[in-house]
Amino acid sequence: MEASPRPTARTFKPRRRRLGTERAAVYERLAPLFALAETGPVLDLVESFPDRRSIRLEIGSGNGDLASSFARSHPDVGLIAVDVHRPGIARLLADIDAFGLGNLRVVEGDALVFLDRLPDASIDEVWAFFPDPWPKNAQSHRRLVTSERMARIARVLKSGGSLRLATDVAAYAQQMRGVLAADPNFVRVEDERPTWRIETHFEREGRERGRAAVDLRAIRR
Ligand SMILES: C[S@@+](CC[C@H](N)C(=O)[O-])C[C@H]1O[C@@H](n2cnc3c(N)ncnc32)[C@H](O)[C@@H]1O
Repeated sequence: MEASPRPTARTFKPRRRRLGTERAAVYERLAPLFALAETGPVLDLVESFPDRRSIRLEIGSGNGDLASSFARSHPDVGLIAVDVHRPGIARLLADIDAFGLGNLRVVEGDALVFLDRLPDASIDEVWAFFPDPWPKNAQSHRRLVTSERMARIARVLKSGGSLRLATDVAAYAQQMRGVLAADPNFVRVEDERPTWRIETHFEREGRERGRAAVDLRAIRR
């Protein structure tokens, strides 16, 4: 049985925040230009992404491999990458600067808190690839994919938009399917790995240890 959601529980593990001197200087220079604050008023996404009609949100961008690759290959799509992991956010800030990625913005913080800054039905796709699996029963309330958290994600998705998930933990894949199939906000759940989802360092490590990724896509009603 799924544990009841506890609103104060965090879905992430405490992460290292310290940067080396050089990267810290780059971070301090670029964050005011390209980072969105975790909390604050509801955002005007047209202002954040002028001329981009499709906006995607990555929850848990990790070291930034996918966000950087996607933003470079899809200049016409806006992407907001969120993680609590400062080194990954710093890497993305450096890539925005180096490659002129006007379509990529970052948030250092809890994506579930940041959701409150997004207008209703404003996002075309929400991604959560390899969210922390919290394998112990006592920790299962910390998993990202629970019905309460999916309702909050559904609020920001446009009708017809997609929630894309991936995991290499079989029990979590089963939970994802169950939660989404029972959720009236989603009409269909299918297995689909998008062609643009590159293998990140995290996924490769799992594959080399014999774990296979499952990709799911649920369509917002
Ligand atoms: C296992 S890693 C996977 C990273 C990346 N998606 C990949 O495939 O390489 C999970 C990431 O999700 C982040 N995370 C978990 N819950 C989060 C939340 N509520 N807000 C922002 N980041 C979160 C963690 O900090 C971690 O970097």
